[in-house]
Amino acid sequence: MSKPSKKIEGDPTTTGHSWDGIEEFNNPLPRWWLWTFYVCIIWGIGYTIAYPAWPGIKGATEGMLGWSTRANVAADIQAAEDKLAPINAKLEAAELTQIASDAELGPYATSAGAAVFKTWCAQCHGSGAAGAKGYPNLLDNDWLWGGDIENIYLTIKHGIRNEEDDEARYSEMPAFGDDYLEDEDIDAVVNYVMSLSGDAKDASVVSAGAEVFADECASCHAEDGTGDREQGAPNLADAIWLYGGDYDTIKETVTYSRYGVMPSWGNRLSEAQVRAVASYVHQLGGGE
Ligand code: HEC
Ligand code: HEC
Repeated sequence: MSKPSKKIEGDPTTTGHSWDGIEEFNNPLPRWWLWTFYVCIIWGIGYTIAYPAWPGIKGATEGMLGWSTRANVAADIQAAEDKLAPINAKLEAAELTQIASDAELGPYATSAGAAVFKTWCAQCHGSGAAGAKGYPNLLDNDWLWGGDIENIYLTIKHGIRNEEDDEARYSEMPAFGDDYLEDEDIDAVVNYVMSLSGDAKDASVVSAGAEVFADECASCHAEDGTGDREQGAPNLADAIWLYGGDYDTIKETVTYSRYGVMPSWGNRLSEAQVRAVASYVHQLGGGE
């Protein structure tokens, strides 16, 4: 540290601090700065009185103006709903079969339905609606319960095998492993089912399997194995599988049966939303 330089007449006073000869002046803050600072403090206090600010045990103080982000969002949502109310009313009143061809309702239902689908259906059916094991693909023209707009609407509105809606679609394949069929018969019928759309694992038992099928399975899956939409019994002759078409998976299905459940949407979504998402699914490619 060098020695403090000599004081010159008229120099401002210093704080006495000095670093390598650089001294710290003890000037008062500029007046304009100080006043800005005071104004900020006053404005800040006013702000915390007017708006939610001080944290408390049950949440922050509410502020005199009653402003809240929640209320703003609620107002925005309400405004959007008010704007869409007329077209939603029209959608609810329209014949299901007329929606797709209506110049205004068709495109609206498809885009509103796509949003509903992404929020409520994609978890199970996949964001592209291609499905997964146990969750049907909604893009193809293979339908369990029916692919016209009225059937799709009914499936969505009431769901399948759920306990929350009395009108849900219902059917139940028995578990044939439950002392119902001998292992031998199960093996045979599984091979027969495989033979309907490809090659059996053991061709020698296929004809025995055909007999088991006619006795035990045809009442739901039809004589030729093409299924029955009245009962949601899948077509077993088309190489499209809900659970899987390899020997082990079919055997598991026949032994224990399955019980695919889809929730009812009529009590969760508005009528317009159900109609919109039904239209969306219908136009995905497999609609009849
Ligand atoms: C919790 C899972 C789950 C959710 C969420 C779900 N589904 Fe499903 N869905 C299923 C299952 C499982 C089936 C097949 C049931 C069966 O075996 O018959 C199904 C079947 C369907 C079918 C009948 C397909 C056919 O071939 O007949 C349609 C249509 C459908 N879902 C549409 C929807 C729509 C639209 C939504 C959203 C609003 C939705 N699903 C949400 C599980 C779900
Ligand atoms: C009471 C009607 C009923 C009877 C009888 C029945 N099924 Fe089913 N089956 C169904 C239903 C409904 C499904 C749809 C699965 C579900 O419950 O999610 C199904 C599903 C299947 C599947 C799964 C198909 C796939 O795509 O993965 C196979 C395989 C099958 N059944 C084979 C049989 C065989 C073999 C028999 C006779 C031993 C039989 N079923 C008897 C109603 C029946």
